[in-house]
Parts: sequence; structure tokens; C-alpha cells
Amino acid sequence: MGEGETQGTRGKHFFEDPGFWGFIHRSFTKSIGYTDDDLKKPVIGICNTFSELNKCHSHFRELTEFVKRGVWQAGGMPMEFPTISIGEPYVKPTTMLLRNLMAMDTEEMIKAHPLDGVVLIGGCDKTVPAQLMAAVSANVPAIVLTGGPMLNGRLHGQTLGACTDCYRFTLEHKAGNLTDRELAEAENAICRSDGHCMVMGTASTMASIAEALGMSLPGCAAIPAPDSRRRHMAELTGKQIVEIVRRDIRPRDIITPQALDNAIRVTMASGGSTNAIIHLVAIAGRLGVRLPLERFDEISKETPFLLNVRPSGAYQMEEYFEAGGVPALMKELEPLLHGGCLTVTGRTVTENLRGVAVLGREVIAPLGQPLAAEGGIAVLRGNLAPRGALVKQTAVSPHLRRHRGRAVVFASPADMAARIDDPLLDVDEHSVLVLKNAGPKGAPAMPEIGQIPIPQKLLERGVRDMVRISDARISGTSYGCLIVHAAPEAAVGGPLALVADGDEIELDIAKRRLQLCVDEAELERRRLLWSPPPPAYDRGYGLLFLQSVLQADEGCDFDFLLPPELREASGVNGSGGTAGSGKGERR
Ligand code: FES
Repeated sequence: MGEGETQGTRGKHFFEDPGFWGFIHRSFTKSIGYTDDDLKKPVIGICNTFSELNKCHSHFRELTEFVKRGVWQAGGMPMEFPTISIGEPYVKPTTMLLRNLMAMDTEEMIKAHPLDGVVLIGGCDKTVPAQLMAAVSANVPAIVLTGGPMLNGRLHGQTLGACTDCYRFTLEHKAGNLTDRELAEAENAICRSDGHCMVMGTASTMASIAEALGMSLPGCAAIPAPDSRRRHMAELTGKQIVEIVRRDIRPRDIITPQALDNAIRVTMASGGSTNAIIHLVAIAGRLGVRLPLERFDEISKETPFLLNVRPSGAYQMEEYFEAGGVPALMKELEPLLHGGCLTVTGRTVTENLRGVAVLGREVIAPLGQPLAAEGGIAVLRGNLAPRGALVKQTAVSPHLRRHRGRAVVFASPADMAARIDDPLLDVDEHSVLVLKNAGPKGAPAMPEIGQIPIPQKLLERGVRDMVRISDARISGTSYGCLIVHAAPEAAVGGPLALVADGDEIELDIAKRRLQLCVDEAELERRRLLWSPPPPAYDRGYGLLFLQSVLQADEGCDFDFLLPPELREASGVNGSGGTAGSGKGERR
């Protein structure tokens, strides 16, 4: 440790205590192989979220070893620890139920232990936002290392992407265009390596956001999981965390309102997942910053769509990596970015982008010749969603961007599952499918079922897209005219609860309009007849979730995890608090 440098002191106090507890801490730590010399180094926690219940994290044991190597090389002392790990395909009813639990788990593990710094290894959809929320609240020096996307799926010379093609294959199988054998072949070919989904779904979007915020090292997001350069990135991350501990650079020095703008801009230019909006609002909330949906729409309107990656484009993360990854996209966006934001390199965004170039113009379009004039996500308003609804406009069929049609209403996800393929369902390709009670408190936990299936009889007639509206979420890998996150949700009496079969609904994406064409007197009559659905939980974590979760436009965090000043400003009555002052534990 050089003179004048700031060194982590949490581990130091832990091990240098002259009394009983110092004895215990040293004795117990040395018993697992660390030496007295090691105990003098900054203690670096490595949050390893390996789990066999999370396919996207299957390689994290190995990745953790490379992080440790970097920590040792830089003069730190690595200590690995687990938290819960949430894998998108397995967790029921939805991983969103557990995002806040993972954020609490991670925050409390960081705060409760003698860590001077922490490397957070995440990948699958909800894990990176949970870790970023925790990093802001704990405010101990931290770097996010994402696990990287899978290699492209391959079948009969075709490139496949999870899970965009998972929808396509199951849809075509349902329509009778694919045999059972062909479906099984696709199952075997689509996910052929370690890593998370390899289109610009939520995992790739959140990895890009971690990088755009400045919380991952430049270039981290797009390196494929099995590529040797991801191991190099892990080692570099291990070295760099020791450096930022020495320089006392903390998440709140990095994640500022300007950095959030940069992250939103990268998301919009990338055709990123609608889920990113909920997560960014939640991350900002931990800072005490209210991030209104208008800010996303403002940035979307002034950010050209540049990234030709599925589900909004033609390529996948592997080609994005070869084209230069997030640094190359940020280089193209540089005139629109806040270049002075600090990052985990210890340098600013502008300094990081020096010498960076776009290496594949077919993947990253020039700012002056974008793929579309606006960003990927549009925020809709109207009497059907007074607090906003989202649509990934880059994935909408052009003929549906402006549409008026009759509502076909499903009262709940169960009702939808029971009736969607009923041959007697009164529906045609002009209908607007409406799903209620699939929001944060409704379904519960806002599952990714906003991609309401096209009814079988319409599928057989060749229909592949329809206007679909819900208070649910969608997977970042979804495509089609899917209007989601309608707020307030139906289960708390939002206007979606009042829609009836046959009502006319008007959508105009260019005008950002979503309107239920029913007069106010009739809506008021229906409002008086409305009653909330029965709660899904009556005990345990599920009950805590129902009592504390905020609406989609507020980030779906728990009210009591917001800093008190934001709770007061929002008029939220927190039910207690683990966040303390909300300012983290400054040493
Ligand atoms: Fe983990 Fe898609 S299932 S990222």
C-alpha cells in the first residue's frame, strides 16, 4: 500500500481488533488457510451465484477462480460467498417475485461482513438488477462481472437465439408447421453452451446497462460465456476491484442521474428489454432519485436505434461482441452521452472511449444512418394506463403501430390459459387481446406473460401478431405488438380492471396514445361494481411481497427499501426499514 493511498478498512478493523473478537476473526479465518499476511490485505468479497437451478450461471465456479487470481495478483484477499440465485426458466410463479429478496440478501451479506470491496457475479435476468440495487444501498466499492451470453444456437445452417426462437418454434409447432421431432431437434440445438440468453433480452440488456452505468469494466457485457476472453475479463475485474478499494470509489460515485441517462440511452439504441425500465427505476430509487417514465420516453425520442441485434434486429450477442460490443455502441452514441461520468476503471466514460472503434457496421449502424429514428421502447399514456404502459416499438409489426379494435378480455392468467384456444372465442385478427390481473400484486409478481398467445384458430389462418395489452411483463426476447406494464394494475383497481369484451381500444404508438373508448359515466358505473381479486399469499415472503411491492412505474421495489426521503416524496408508507438512512455505510 503506497503512501497517501486510501485502503479499505472494514477488513482491517475486523482482523486487527486487539480483543476477543479480533482473536476469533483471525483464528477462524486462518483455520481455512489464510495467513497473517493475507489478513493485512483488503478483503474482497466475491459474490458467486452459481446454482444448478440457474443454467445461466453454470460456469460461475470457474469464473470465480479467475476473479480470485486477479484479486491475489493485485494484493487483495478474496473471500467467496453465495446468495440466492434466480434462474429465469425454473422459478415459479416468476423470478420477479425474488428479485427484491436477492437484492436484500446481497445488500445484507455485503454490509454484515468485513468486506472492503465486492465483485458481484450475475447473469440471468433478475440477478444483475438485484446486485446493482444492493450495490447502491450497501455503497461498498463494487464491480459487476456478468457471465456472458451463450454462443449462437445452430441448426441446419441456421442461427438460433434463446429465447426469441423458443417462441417461434413453439408457435409453429402449435400451428402444425413443425413435427415433434423437429421441435426436439431445435431444443437440442438452441442452447449449446454456458451463458445467458444470446439475444438482446433482459440479461444482455442488464449486462449492457451495468457497463453503460460504469459498474462493469468496458467490453464485459458481450463477451460470450465460453470465450477465453471472459476469463481474462474475470481476472481483470479481480485486479480492478482492489484498485477501486484503494481509491475508495463507490457505487454512488458512479451511479449518478447522468450515468442513469447514459444507461437509458444505451438501452434505447440497443432495442433493449422493457424489463430494464422497471430495474432502472428501482436502481435509481435506491439512490433516492425518482426516475419518471417520461425521462425514458424523452431519451427514446432523441436516441436513434442503432443495434441490429435480435429480437429487434438480425444478429445476436456473438456478432455484437465481434463488432466491438457496448464500448463500440457507446462510441457511436458519444455525442449524446454524459462523458464525464466516473466508471469502475477509475476513469470517465470519455476517457474509456478513447481509441474505441466500431468493427462491424452491419451490427452497429452509424448515428447519422440509424436503423430507426427513435429508440426501442415507447411510453404510452391514456385513460387505459394513466401512469404509463410500455411497448417495444422496434419489435411491433408495422401495420399495428396505429390500430383500433374490439377488446377480447381475459380476467386472469388462468382464464387466458383456459380460453385462448377455444374455437368459440369471439376473436379475429383485428381484436385487441386484454389480460387483467397479471401485475405486481395481481398474478402475483408480474410474470412474463404479456406475450399473450395468438389464438390457435388465428394462428392456423396465418396471423402472427395482434395488439395485446396487459399489466404483466414480457421477456426481453419477446416480439410483437405487446403493450405491457399498464399502471396502475388491474388488481389495485387500475383502469385495465374496467375493460369489458367488445370495448373499442385505440393505439397510436407515434402519438404515444392508449385509449379505452368508453365514456366516463360507464367507467364510473363499472368502477362501483369492481372488487379486488383475493390475495395470492396469506403468509411468509409472499405476504411481505404483496404488502410492500410498488407499482411498475415505481420499479416494483419494496416500499421499505427506498430511502426515507423518497418514501416521503412518493407518499409511500414504508412498513419498516432495513435500509437505515438509505445512505449506505460510509466508512
Ligand atoms: Fe437466463 Fe434467459 S434464461 S438469461
